[in-house]
Order: sequence, then structure tokens, then C-alpha cells
Amino acid sequence: MRAPGPSILSARFFKEKRPEGDDLVVRGRFIVFEGIDGSGVTTQAHRLKEYVGKKLGLPVHLTKEPTDGPVGGLIRTILAKRVGVPTRDGRLESVDPRCLALLFAADRIDHLEVDILPKLQNGVTIICDRYYLSSFAYQSLSVDLKWIREINSKCIHPDLTIMLRVPPLVAEKRRLQDRWHVELYEETPKLEHVSANYLSIIKELQREGHRVEIIDGNRPPNEVHKDVVRLVRSLFTTTGNKKARARGSPQLGIDFASEGGGSADA
Ligand code: TYD
Repeated sequence: MRAPGPSILSARFFKEKRPEGDDLVVRGRFIVFEGIDGSGVTTQAHRLKEYVGKKLGLPVHLTKEPTDGPVGGLIRTILAKRVGVPTRDGRLESVDPRCLALLFAADRIDHLEVDILPKLQNGVTIICDRYYLSSFAYQSLSVDLKWIREINSKCIHPDLTIMLRVPPLVAEKRRLQDRWHVELYEETPKLEHVSANYLSIIKELQREGHRVEIIDGNRPPNEVHKDVVRLVRSLFTTTGNKKARARGSPQLGIDFASEGGGSADA
């Protein structure tokens, strides 16, 4: 007889009865997409949102960084090269890269406080288009990685980060199809460095026990989506959860208490 396969936890799972009788809401999962500009991150994040919401029937929220909040807005104007530091000859230079790294970290803390953490604590799965790994890979082009990690050290770890790996020249072709102007990092030689940064930093994070997976993004979106689903399902299956807990995976146990909130997963 075939052993029963892992069962997808239904929305019911997210409300358990405590012995005392009051409802316990199990926290949602936190999934992040990463990759160089033009790697298909936004497309795959949208498709996964549909899958989690419609196929799994779970509460889900799609969000992105830089955010639409006040700090995110400032970052976008800098990336679009519409603000900067005036030089003596009247040109505009981009802001100091350390300043930009701090702005990304500030935007992230704000994002966590006003949007991500409250929803996770209420059992909502969060899908985030870019998170701290973007800061590690992009800002380390010109800023010390150790310091970038330090200024992001108060940010919780995702349960799963998926990096879509696409050759920089392929990503460039995709960007040329649907972008109107070139942003700060959207140049192929820079993105070749960013791509190499991603790969070496991911190795470092994996060694530290973080769950970061690389998917070949240089394929039709449907095929990429199938691989994404395969990875994500393990977060919602009873066997996947048990395995992760046995591994002592730091991603599966956000310690809300140590982040200053109440535990939603006790
Ligand atoms: P992107 O996802 O490309 O936004 P959009 O599709 O709206 O243009 O992100 C904007 C850029 O910001 C992208 O080049 C990556 C960069 N970025 C960083 O350099 N550091 C970060 O921490 C984040 C979140 C993004």
C-alpha cells in the first residue's frame, strides 16, 4: 500500500483550539522572491499569490520592496535619478551608497512594523518581492557587506527565499521589452556583479542554516512556477513542517517574542 502523501494544511489549520478553549492563530509563512532586474521576480510573486490564495485557499498578501511607504517613495525617486546631491558644476550625483543602504534598511523596518509582522501574526502568508537579500547583493557593490548585514540585523528571517537565476544578458533583453527608462542599477555590467554577489551571499546564508533556494529562471514562466510551487508546498505540508522543525530550521520559527511582539506560533 502506498504511504499517504503529505497533506496540504487547509485554512482550518490556521485556527487551532487551545485546551483552555480560546483560538490560537498559527502565524503565516513568509516567502521572498529575489533576482537581478528583469529576472521575472514580480511575475512569479504574482503567480504564487494566486496559487496560495486560490489553489491552497489560504489567506495571502503580496507586497514588495522598496515599498509604497514614505521611505520607499524617497528610494524610488533616487533610483529613478530624479533626486541626488548637487555638484559644483550643477549636475546631480546619486546619494552616497551608504545613505541608500540605510534608506533600504529603514524602509524594511517600517514595512515589517506596519504591514508584514501584523499580518504574519494573524495567519496571513506573506509573499514579498525583494527583501534584505537585495540589499546584500546590490548595496554590497559599493558598501561593506558586514555593515549592510548589521543594519538589517533586526529584520526577521523569511521561511523561504527563492532566487530566480537568469543570465544578465537575458535579463537585459527582458528589461528592454517593458521598461521606459533605465534606473540606477539597470546596467548589465553592474547586474553581472550583483548576480555574482547573490550567488556567493546565498552560499553564506545557506551555511548559516537559512532556507534560500535557487531556481533556473531562464525558462518559460509556467515551468518556473511549477518549481516554485514544489518548493513552497513543503512549507504547508505536515511532513515538510516536521522535517523543518527536526532540522531546527530558524526560518520556521519566527520568534515574535524576541522581536518585541507576542508569539503567534507557540
Ligand atoms: P524593482 O523590484 O526592480 O522595482 P520596479 O520593478 O518597480 O522597478 O526594484 C527596484 C530596484 O531596487 C532594483 O534595481 C533593486 C534595487 N534594490 C536594492 O538595491 N536594494 C534593496 O534592498 C532593494 C529592496 C531593492
